[in-house]
Amino acid sequence: MRRFPSKLLNWYAENKRTLPWRGHRSPYAVWVSEIMLQQTRVETVIPYFKKWMKTFPTVYTLARASEQDVLNAWEGLGYYSRARNFHKAAKIVVEDHEGKLPRDMTELQKLPGIGRYTAGALASIVFGMDEPALDGNLKRVYARLFDVEAPVNSTEGERLLWEIARENLPTGKAADFNQALMDLGATICLPKNPRCEVCPLAKECKAKARNVQGLRPVKTMKRAMPRYTYAAAAIIKRINGSPCALLVQRPLKGLLGGMWEFPNARVAGDPAEALAPALETAYRLTVRKKRGVQNPLAIVKHAYSHFSVVVHAFLCESALKKTNAALKWIRLKDLEKYPMGKIDRTIARRIINDSRF
Ligand code: ADE
Repeated sequence: MRRFPSKLLNWYAENKRTLPWRGHRSPYAVWVSEIMLQQTRVETVIPYFKKWMKTFPTVYTLARASEQDVLNAWEGLGYYSRARNFHKAAKIVVEDHEGKLPRDMTELQKLPGIGRYTAGALASIVFGMDEPALDGNLKRVYARLFDVEAPVNSTEGERLLWEIARENLPTGKAADFNQALMDLGATICLPKNPRCEVCPLAKECKAKARNVQGLRPVKTMKRAMPRYTYAAAAIIKRINGSPCALLVQRPLKGLLGGMWEFPNARVAGDPAEALAPALETAYRLTVRKKRGVQNPLAIVKHAYSHFSVVVHAFLCESALKKTNAALKWIRLKDLEKYPMGKIDRTIARRIINDSRF
């Protein structure tokens, strides 16, 4: 295994891809390429890179440009926050760093759009610093070379792979070495059907020795997002002549902390049937669906980061006289003043715009 870096560097000397940012004298050009390559393939990036360098040839031209022009030049590459962050970072580099990328891993990672991978790529390629740079492709290469069984998307796998990458970095050669790994990952150590028969590192590859290269990298199964069904009650009555709705404030901590919502509960089965018993349990609140009303007032879907919900809101009546601290009658004309999440704002607006109230 000791010889793997030199074998890789020899292979790279003979086989490196000719790419327009390679050997570019300007650190800014490398920066452009690394931001574009974050979520996009090399072949797609090449024409965008060339055009970008004509439109914004220096960090100063980029910093001076309007956001509209920057987004126009990015159009078609996707993930537009990359362009916005890059634009912001260019302004910071001009204003705070005399137009030069900082030669420091911590400072680099303070710039918008530059994470651990991109900082490592810039530090090694631009400044020749001894820094590893691991993106998804390099993680795959290392997971095979060292037969890493920990999932690459686990904390343990991440830690291990960065450690392996740092330990194996040949001193003073990080620029070529990191890019050699990139080329190997892109042309030989492919995600499916790796071309081991032409791989310069086949003899040192631990996964290949055990014939498990097809099983590396290990990835933890992404769980499908759970979807929950909720039933909510829109309880409306006149108090001193003003139509009011009964709302409840969420606990201050946690999701949508302190925001207001219509009384609701998670249900299994038919929300129309489950509503009354569920609210009785959740709030000791006795409700019944308003007479003559069959259909929900609103059905609202929303996706949070780890789950999604669908809320069925029904027009209800309640015998409730007094309210406790969390439950409150709020005049419809004041509803806009109470902070709400997207779902309850949708229900509130539906009520406000309903001519019956
Ligand atoms: N992917 C990300 N950076 C790259 C680079 N410098 N060369 C090739 N592929 C890359």
